[in-house]
Amino acid sequence: MKTLLVTGGCGFIGSNFVRQQLQTYPDVSIVNVDKLTYAGNLENLADIENDPRYRFERGDICDREFIDGVLDSAAIDSVVNFAAESHVDRSILDSGPFIQTNIVGTQVLLDASRKANISRYLQVSTDEVYGTLGEDGYFTEDTPLAPNSPYSASKTAADLLVRSYFHTYGFPAVTTRCSNNYGPYQFPEKLIPLFISNALKDEALPVYGKGNNVRDWIHVLDHCRGIDAALRNGEPGEVYNFGGNSELQNLELTFKLLDALGKPRTLIRHVEDRAGHDFRYAIDTTRVEHELGWKPQMDFETGLRSTIDWYLSNKDWAERIQSGQYRDYYETQYGKRLA
Ligand code: NAD
Ligand code: TYD
Repeated sequence: MKTLLVTGGCGFIGSNFVRQQLQTYPDVSIVNVDKLTYAGNLENLADIENDPRYRFERGDICDREFIDGVLDSAAIDSVVNFAAESHVDRSILDSGPFIQTNIVGTQVLLDASRKANISRYLQVSTDEVYGTLGEDGYFTEDTPLAPNSPYSASKTAADLLVRSYFHTYGFPAVTTRCSNNYGPYQFPEKLIPLFISNALKDEALPVYGKGNNVRDWIHVLDHCRGIDAALRNGEPGEVYNFGGNSELQNLELTFKLLDALGKPRTLIRHVEDRAGHDFRYAIDTTRVEHELGWKPQMDFETGLRSTIDWYLSNKDWAERIQSGQYRDYYETQYGKRLA
């Protein structure tokens, strides 16, 4: 039996990872630590809440006493750190929470995990630590770190702490860096769920600048399979990049979304560009293909269709999370009010 401590398991990628682990491995049990910020929704895991192999603990990864207590309360083998402030636009408005959770939180988890002698720590990071690409080329694991936003700078700082703990203490840490995820349970502030949600209400889709920035899209379950492969078979001290081999300009993607929803292109509004907007992200996945036997399985057209269908079937989920009503769910389940 393997027991994982997953942080940020009530967010988009973390909740998909928790579900996938429990479904794939009958011998895995999970403790999920989440602060339930605006982005964390307990309802994302309502279907597995009563699984005896799953336990939720509300708390902050920056709180050392709390994290020590969680690590003491179960025989944790591995820690997978998803918990983060994750939205670039919010980091431009206020970098404070990003520095706190993404950097200080990682340091607390590293120290507590080292003390608890865990056998594997996985830091979930992002390709945004590499900065931006021009029209050509790809990020590899050897691309120099050159973050451009407060979000990516905070993730880079955390990655460097992880690296230093491996080199200084021989701490068994692995880092994964992934391109833009899409799929079910993504908070409707990121491009795909925001545009679906706005289009369904016939509201404008705010495209930053000309809309020619390029992102590489990967289905969240492909990313989760990659994290799983790195957790089980990655080498301590190493970095593994994951990408979907699905590059699209934002405007091309917006057209696809509108066409799939049967909505007019007149909903598009070109708005002021994001400050410091990275032009293009794209990943060379050679290393993970050779060393972890990983390839993305979901082709983008199929993944996008199933994602749109999920948001169509879960309109009330999006409404509840946008209005903060999901907090009532926590109160019902745990009898406590969220601060
Ligand atoms: P998300 O914003 O949907 O979820 C983050 C979760 O962390 C939420 O449940 C939130 O409540 C929790 N959290 C925040 N601060 C916390 C704290 N101090 N203590 C405990 N819990 C806290 O984010 P996501 O999109 O699921 O991203 C998860 C991870 O993957 C992040 O580390 C992010 O940097 C990384 N990542 C995301 C993408 C992407 O496309 N979304 C791509 C590459 C890497
Ligand atoms: P986002 O989903 O915020 O992810 P990231 O910034 O981490 O790549 O944005 C994806 C792309 O879409 C990015 O180039 C910014 C752009 N974008 C818009 O044009 N309008 C929007 O309202 C949002 C949220 C993003």
